[in-house]
Amino acid sequence: MTTSSTALAIDFQNVVKRFGERTVLKGINLEVKRGEILFILGTSGTGKSVLLKTLVGLLRADEGNILIEGKDVAHLSEEDYLPIRRHCGMVFQHPALFDSMTVGQNIAFGLMKHERKTYEQALPRVRECLELVGLSGVEDRNANEISYGMQKRVSLARTLAVGPRILLFDEPTTGLDPITTRQINNLIRDLSRRLQTTALVVSHDMECALEIADRIIVLSEGQIVEQGDVEHILKSKVPLVVDFLAEAKASRGDA
Ligand SMILES: Nc1ncnc2c1ncn2[C@@H]1O[C@H](COP(=O)(O)OP(=O)(O)OP(=O)(O)O)[C@@H](O)[C@H]1O
Ligand SMILES: [Mg+2]
Repeated sequence: MTTSSTALAIDFQNVVKRFGERTVLKGINLEVKRGEILFILGTSGTGKSVLLKTLVGLLRADEGNILIEGKDVAHLSEEDYLPIRRHCGMVFQHPALFDSMTVGQNIAFGLMKHERKTYEQALPRVRECLELVGLSGVEDRNANEISYGMQKRVSLARTLAVGPRILLFDEPTTGLDPITTRQINNLIRDLSRRLQTTALVVSHDMECALEIADRIIVLSEGQIVEQGDVEHILKSKVPLVVDFLAEAKASRGDA
């Protein structure tokens, strides 16, 4: 471990993940600096979600080390992982709010469970988080009566409520219309800057990666095939990256 590792939010060291005979992550080495917005791009089934899940301990790596803020977490017990998970807030692709609860109750859920707060005690934080995602005043609405785009933002507010230092997004904009996509992307960028959190964003969307990422890595069949800042990616000759760039250009309508 080098002395600079404390400046790193996340450090994957030769991480291997297998399911039976199948090796899905084939020795991932990846350093993420504090405050960085890193996009992870790759085609479907290439191991992007598995990578995020190994980080938060929902799946365990078979080989290698994973350091979060300098602490090796890959070999922690389930119990010791719980506080780590609260530092690494995962925003899943589908909002999965509790339908029978209000927006506010959904956001307060983690605070009530882990910090033993009452709803009234959690309410100021709930309101603060709703404001952060641009949804002030909706805490009393039922979760099932707000739009899908709003649900995505509420799920982000729910993750923010416990104060994570690292935010993990798995496909935050898949299935959203272009305007909501832009709103969510801007939100990821603005919140990461404002709250000084590190963000890992798994995506298929090169266009939004080019817009908001500090750095992009491209995964193919469980390996990193390209990585760098936007300027580097734009000049890449790696065929998969060239394809992603062509698609982004076509979707902007300027191909
Ligand atoms: N719990 C599991 N058990 C067995 N195989 C799994 C499990 N989770 C993922 N896999 C396999 O690992 C591979 C990578 O899956 P992963 O979900 O990481 O893909 P992905 O890159 O996120 O794809 P997508 O873009 O479609 O979400 C897939 O072949 C998947 O079937
Ligand atoms: Mg996935």
